Amino acid sequence: MPLVTSTEMFKKAYEGKYAVGAFNVNNMEIIQGIVDAAKAEQSPLILQVSAGARKYAKHIYLMKLVEAAVEDTGLPICLHLDHGEDFEICKACVDGGFTSVMIDGSKHSFEDNIELTRRVVDYAHNKGVVVEAELGKLAGVEDAVKVAAKDATYTDPDQAVEFVERTGVDSLAIAIGTSHGAYKFKGKPELDFARLEKISNLLPNFPLVLHGASTVLPEFVSLCNEYGGKIEGAQGVPEDMLLQAGKFGVCKINIDTDLRLAMTASIRKYLANNPGDFDPRQYLKPARQAIQDMVTHKMRDVLNSSNRL
Ligand code: G3H
Ligand code: 13P
Ligand code: ZN
Repeated sequence: MPLVTSTEMFKKAYEGKYAVGAFNVNNMEIIQGIVDAAKAEQSPLILQVSAGARKYAKHIYLMKLVEAAVEDTGLPICLHLDHGEDFEICKACVDGGFTSVMIDGSKHSFEDNIELTRRVVDYAHNKGVVVEAELGKLAGVEDAVKVAAKDATYTDPDQAVEFVERTGVDSLAIAIGTSHGAYKFKGKPELDFARLEKISNLLPNFPLVLHGASTVLPEFVSLCNEYGGKIEGAQGVPEDMLLQAGKFGVCKINIDTDLRLAMTASIRKYLANNPGDFDPRQYLKPARQAIQDMVTHKMRDVLNSSNRL
C-alpha cells in the first residue's frame, strides 16, 4: 500500500460525521506510537510534518520512517506538510513524496493568500497531491477583544466560499477560536460554533480543518509538573467541543501539543524514578507507549475515527 492522499478519508469522514486525526511527527518513536494506535484502532490517519520538524529530522529521514510505517502496518497513511509558509517548501514536499501539503497564507492579505494558494494548488494537483489552505488567523483571542477585531481574526464565512472557489483548494483550515500550544483560553473555553455551522452550510461536502485542537488534559500537565516541570495556566479545547466540530464538516483535527505533553510527562517520570538509567531506550519505550495511549484515546473518544477503515 503506497502513501495515500486525504481525498477518500475526508469523503468518508464527512459522510460519517467524524474527523481524521492529523498528528505531528518528529522522530521514530512518535511515528511508531501513532501508527501502532491507528493499526489497533483500524483508524484513518494523517501524519504531518512542520517546517521545524523537517529541519530537525531532515526530509529524507521522515520520509523513510513513514514509508517504513506504511510497510510495517499496511495502513493507508497520508503524509502532509503542516503550515508550509511559501511556494518553495510546498514544492519541495510535493517533489519529495508527500501526498498532501498545507500552504498557510493566512498572514497575507485575502488577495495575496488566494494568489499564493492558487499557485500551490496548480503545482500540487498536477502531481496528484492535495492542498490545504488557511483563511482567518489562529491566535489566542483575549476575552476583552472587541467584536470587530474578533471578526477580523476569525474566518469570514462569505470569504471562505470565495476563497475555495477561486483557489480550487481541497480543504480549508478555519479560525473559530482554537489556537496553537498549551495556552488556548484565558477564561472559559469558547468556540464560535455558529460561525462553523455557517461556513459548513455555505460549503457543503467540503472538508474543513481545525488546527490548535489539543485538549491539554490536566492529568498530563500535572504529571509533568509532579516530576520537575513548570507548566502553569495551560488550557486546551474540551473534548466534547471537538466531537461536536466533527458534526459540522470538520474532517481533519490537528494534534501536536497533547503528544508533546504525553511524551514529556512519561520521560520526566521515568528519569525521576530511575536516576541511575541512561539508556535512551529505557525512557523512550514508555514514551512511545504514552504516545500510543494518547492517540488511541483521541481516535476512540475525540475523533470518533476508530473502526472506519
Ligand atoms: O502548528 C504547529 C505545530 O504544532 C508544529 O509545531 O513548528 O514547533 O514543529 P513546530
Ligand atoms: P495543538 O498545538 O493544539 O496541538 O495544534 C497543533 C496544530 O494545529 C498543528 O498544525
Ligand atoms: Zn496548526
